[in-house]
Amino acid sequence: MKEMLARIQAEALEQIHAPEADLEQIKIKYLGKKGELTAVLRGMGSLSPEERPVVGQIANEVRAAIEAAINERKQEQEALALDAKLKAEKLDVTMPGTPAPMGHMHPLTQVQRELEDIFIGMGFSIVEGPEVELDYYNFQALNIPENHPARDTQDTFYIAENVLLRSQTSPVQVRTMEHQKPPIRIISPGRVYRSDALDATHSPLFHQLEGLVVDKGITMGDLKGTLEIFAKKLFGENTRIRFRPHHFPFTEPSAEVDVSCYVCGGKGCRLCKGEGWIEILGAGMVHPFVLSNCGIDPEVYSGFAFGLGLERIAMKKYGIDDIRLFYENDERFLEQF
Ligand code: DAH
Repeated sequence: MKEMLARIQAEALEQIHAPEADLEQIKIKYLGKKGELTAVLRGMGSLSPEERPVVGQIANEVRAAIEAAINERKQEQEALALDAKLKAEKLDVTMPGTPAPMGHMHPLTQVQRELEDIFIGMGFSIVEGPEVELDYYNFQALNIPENHPARDTQDTFYIAENVLLRSQTSPVQVRTMEHQKPPIRIISPGRVYRSDALDATHSPLFHQLEGLVVDKGITMGDLKGTLEIFAKKLFGENTRIRFRPHHFPFTEPSAEVDVSCYVCGGKGCRLCKGEGWIEILGAGMVHPFVLSNCGIDPEVYSGFAFGLGLERIAMKKYGIDDIRLFYENDERFLEQF
């Protein structure tokens, strides 16, 4: 029996010290209820009374030795595991970080914000209007009755017979004047739609910014002064503007407004196509019919209005030659701004 105990101890210790030893299994195998050492102790009934305490003591020593070895080995294993874990999770704080790509505002949004800032600085406030609009606001109230030729150049998309996607931001003039009595000083940026095929200079969706000022005694001089300050702020202090006679149904008189070319200063170059001037917007004095359509007495009040295309301004400002680039979301284009 003594040899058996000695063999059990030697065997157990050998297994405990084997690489990757499974200590739980070993514990069950030798010390568990059905373990080898327990089996030996059970067999002690067959020993003589003198032998029993001797063998019993040896058995206890063997148990203690195995337990001690298991505990010691367990600590060793835990230390090794912790070491490996720490090595695997080591964080080198001096390593360069993984860059998170940073975006920025779309060039059109940038231009819109810039124009808004300029006009806010002149006391204008910003109003919004619906993109799905009634025929009345988009056309009729603006002095464009059915069958008026201006409807051809502003053909748009229809939701129902009298409901359409607005072809211009000018209907916001009417909506504003219906709700607000003079003095009025607003701008209104937003999306507009026309049933144009997409090419380098046309898009079925683009953006405009409308301006409207109504008060007693507003003259064309106020319009010129306002637009001149605007042009200088946007294109530089040396910028001049010029008015060319034009026709818009909702203004009288009407003008197209050019700025002196900010590349050549007016001498003529590639950007201004040798003209020295670049057309940037349409403007005029609010037509008396439009005022009275909105319940404002044209005998008492007068006003001016203007409208510009944001894409057009952005294209001129940044030298972009194809309007489609704004809508393609190509990072190689967008990241340049
Ligand atoms: N709504 C016009 C267009 O889309 C632009 C315009 C011209 C707006 C003259 C105005 C204006 O307010 O006075 O072509």
